[in-house]
Amino acid sequence: MHGSHTSSMATSISYLASRPALVFVVALLEYYLISLNYLVISANSAPNYNYCRPIEANDTDLIQFALNLEFLEAEFFLYGALGEGLDAISPNLALGGPPPIGGHKANLNPLVAPIIQEFGYQEVGHLRAIITTIGGFPRPLLNLSRENFAALFDQAAGFPLTPPFDPYANSVNYLLASYAIPYVGLVGYVGTIPNLTEPTNRRLVASLLGVEAGQDAVIRALLYKMAHWKVFPYRLTVADFTNLISGLRNKLGGCGIKDEGIIVPETLGAENRTCSNVLSADLDSLSYARTQPEILRIVYATGDESVPGGFYPRGANGNIARRFLNEY
Ligand SMILES: *[C@@H]1O[C@H](CO)[C@@H](O)[C@H](O)[C@H]1NC(C)=O
Ligand SMILES: *[C@@H]1O[C@H](CO)[C@@H](O)[C@H](O)[C@H]1NC(C)=O
Ligand SMILES: *[C@@H]1O[C@H](CO)[C@@H](O)[C@H](O)[C@H]1NC(C)=O
Ligand SMILES: *[C@@H]1O[C@H](CO)[C@@H](O)[C@H](O)[C@H]1NC(C)=O
Repeated sequence: MHGSHTSSMATSISYLASRPALVFVVALLEYYLISLNYLVISANSAPNYNYCRPIEANDTDLIQFALNLEFLEAEFFLYGALGEGLDAISPNLALGGPPPIGGHKANLNPLVAPIIQEFGYQEVGHLRAIITTIGGFPRPLLNLSRENFAALFDQAAGFPLTPPFDPYANSVNYLLASYAIPYVGLVGYVGTIPNLTEPTNRRLVASLLGVEAGQDAVIRALLYKMAHWKVFPYRLTVADFTNLISGLRNKLGGCGIKDEGIIVPETLGAENRTCSNVLSADLDSLSYARTQPEILRIVYATGDESVPGGFYPRGANGNIARRFLNEY
């Protein structure tokens, strides 16, 4: 229900977004629209937990929640680099979950291909670390199809891209699709660590966070180098796409700005003095944090933690995600 007014305004604004200056304006306007949206949500909705506040959960549930994102990253990177996923590389870690839908080998250049392969294997390690330390649950059904990414990018752009966006077509597209993934894991880990009680669990998640942050930085730096390139055959540049995807995630998350593109208005840059934004961070250049419900709203692409969709057509697994699916 919330945000329909905002999204129609954002849609008409996005139509104009073909030059960097206009993208600054779009980002600024989105900032105000999102703040407005946030106020409206805070005033109107009264679920039995605070919409933007950390939820109650024990260490096991908090860490297992992250498996959902690690499965997504592992499968997307492994398919992208190798053309096959966890079931071929390390089938025991899927814990009996159904195979993903629509994963493909991407047409990657010699710089990007080995980086994505490394990321894919890193995610296998992360899965193993979580599962052996605290136990796991079956891999949820994942939708890695071109159509799902195309729908996400249409939603970000605010209008249907023609031809539909294909994440597997080339390195730029694949990096833009990847831009949409480890960052969500990163902000989730930042949000999780303060609420873990056991030091050994904090150490595990801090170590996962370190590598997720590194992956995000590499993806952003590769995109930054091409920031002003047009993404063929669209009129939008690489920077435009990052701002649009970040704007969509802020809108879906519903808790203000926690996600910024690679070229921004100075007010979102470091110390209000840079338009370059190779890393996304807050006023004091600290990492943003997201709660589990915010993450679900984003990865479901529905803006509602109780309505599955997007990458997780049947919802995410584990006690936290299932709690929201059952309650509403
Ligand atoms: C989680 O940590 C935050 C501080 O970062 C605190 O405000 C909140 O009360 C904690 N929530 C729970 C459920 O422990
Ligand atoms: C954590 O909470 C879940 C319920 O969400 C419960 O089933 C589980 O036993 C708890 N684990 C521990 C270690 O307390
Ligand atoms: C995957 O996503 C596409 C695009 O939204 C959708 O058409 C398709 O039905 C989805 N697949 C599943 C199994 O949900
Ligand atoms: C940057 O601008 C914001 C207002 O947009 C202000 O709250 C903040 O203090 C400024 N930061 C610095 C370092 O000037």
